[in-house]
Amino acid sequence: MIKTVETKPFDGQRPGTSGLRKKVTVFQQAHYTENFIQSIFNVLDGFKGKTLVIGGDGRFYNDRVVQIAIRMAAANGFGKVITGQGGLLSTPAASHVIRLNKAFGGIILSASHNPGGPDGDFGIKYNGGNGGPAPEKVTEAIFAQTKTISTYKTVEAADIDLGKIGSSTIEGMSVEVIDPVADYATLMQSLFDFPAIKALLASGFTMKFDGMSAITGPYGTRIFEGLLGAAKGTVMNGVPLPDFGGHHPDPNLVHAKELCDLVIGGKGPDFGAASDGDGDRNLIVGKGIYVTPSDSLAIIAANAQLAPGYKGGIAGVARSMPTSCAADRVAAKLKINHFETPTGWKFFGNLLDAGKATICGEESFGTGSNHVREKDGVWAVLMWLNILAARKQSVADIVKGHWAEYGRNYYTRHDYEEVASDAANALMSGLRAQLSKLVGQHNIVKADDFAYDDPVDGSHTEGQGIRLIFANGARIIYRLSGTGTSGATLRVYIEDYEADAKKHDADPQVALAALIKLARDVAQIEKLTGRAEPTVIT
Ligand code: G1P
Ligand code: ZN
Repeated sequence: MIKTVETKPFDGQRPGTSGLRKKVTVFQQAHYTENFIQSIFNVLDGFKGKTLVIGGDGRFYNDRVVQIAIRMAAANGFGKVITGQGGLLSTPAASHVIRLNKAFGGIILSASHNPGGPDGDFGIKYNGGNGGPAPEKVTEAIFAQTKTISTYKTVEAADIDLGKIGSSTIEGMSVEVIDPVADYATLMQSLFDFPAIKALLASGFTMKFDGMSAITGPYGTRIFEGLLGAAKGTVMNGVPLPDFGGHHPDPNLVHAKELCDLVIGGKGPDFGAASDGDGDRNLIVGKGIYVTPSDSLAIIAANAQLAPGYKGGIAGVARSMPTSCAADRVAAKLKINHFETPTGWKFFGNLLDAGKATICGEESFGTGSNHVREKDGVWAVLMWLNILAARKQSVADIVKGHWAEYGRNYYTRHDYEEVASDAANALMSGLRAQLSKLVGQHNIVKADDFAYDDPVDGSHTEGQGIRLIFANGARIIYRLSGTGTSGATLRVYIEDYEADAKKHDADPQVALAALIKLARDVAQIEKLTGRAEPTVIT
């Protein structure tokens, strides 16, 4: 039976860089989750009888919210819900399932790389029929709804059994529970040279994939160990856990330390990779080398045609503004489009839909292509394996060869986590106030707050990060995170270009030391935040 429940608005239900993210305890408040889901439905038009995909990364509370969302979809008039077994779908797999089934859209339950568990984070975001995160005008409309909502619709019914693959109905709406991996694995087989990768793995080449006790464990096990024949045990931390084993499921040098020590240390396998909580991020390491995400994007763009799905070449490459300019150099050489967008995958959607860009990436361990409308961790790993199989070189040789050809964009990101919000805001306004004065000092030729005009729909986005651009192309960028759930996180991105191959072997922290110091001084980071050093360096 459909029922209408009275409710009152909650403050602060504004979607951030990637959906609404809050502590689990916030989502657990009576009506909080329902209010947000109803607000999503309230801004959508014409979904009666259509299909909605619902799935999440398996974090704590995923199982409850899937049931809430199914009931509300039924009450609001959707014709069908598709979800993965156990309510699970990695974010890129959800994007694919939306596209494959021509669904109206999807609700993805995830807080990505944020910690999980009863005291951890949870998140909800809406993706449209193209499989991509809703654009800003939609997320802002959702936010507006959350401020005035007074009722939501649900049905009184028992939980749907999501443990078994198959179909059932609830209040006249059908619910189809699918294998969360199968369609995605088929898509990957259509893009990459599986026989060549299989042959590489049979030839003594070894790899390790860290599922970080999150959603990609089953995907990695089925694809790497199953379809590609990698040795049993190739996938570590392969069983998804609601609290990710107490770890922070963020594939970087800090949180995937065990894998990095093993592979970068040089005594482990030839190739290492990891993905995050919901499967859209990737970390790539090789014997003795860490591949920065910005370099990985550039190398993928330069080599994509080695993979069957991209053999006709790529139309363009897009990167988020703070991502290093390495990919631009590849685009220039290939004479293809290149785009610089604000942070967040949603800004790539229009470029991909319009066929202007094929490969996209962010410095924050995100890479992907037009095969879905999300970044895709396992896709990036397969792309690297395909490149390695085709070029028959080590990861280190491929990276160093790339630098020799294009020059090296030395790059680092310094994060100051859980800074007091007032201090972080003061720091950013302090920078904004000095912009015009900074031009001309320290060889700075441009200082601005990044704004973007979408070349497809003309939408304008402002306040996307302070950029200091130097005469030689070096850059310092400051922005505040839009995904954190406590205090503020200041991100400082530092980049410098070195053309001379004889100078490509430095530690980025050393090569960038002068710029790092300048970045701290100009923004008065220690004075304003009390932090002498960042909490995370990537
Ligand atoms: C972070 C990353 C950004 C990414 C987002 C979602 O957002 O910096 O590139 O798109 O997570 O994975 P931020 O916390 O910086 O707003
Ligand atoms: Zn993620």
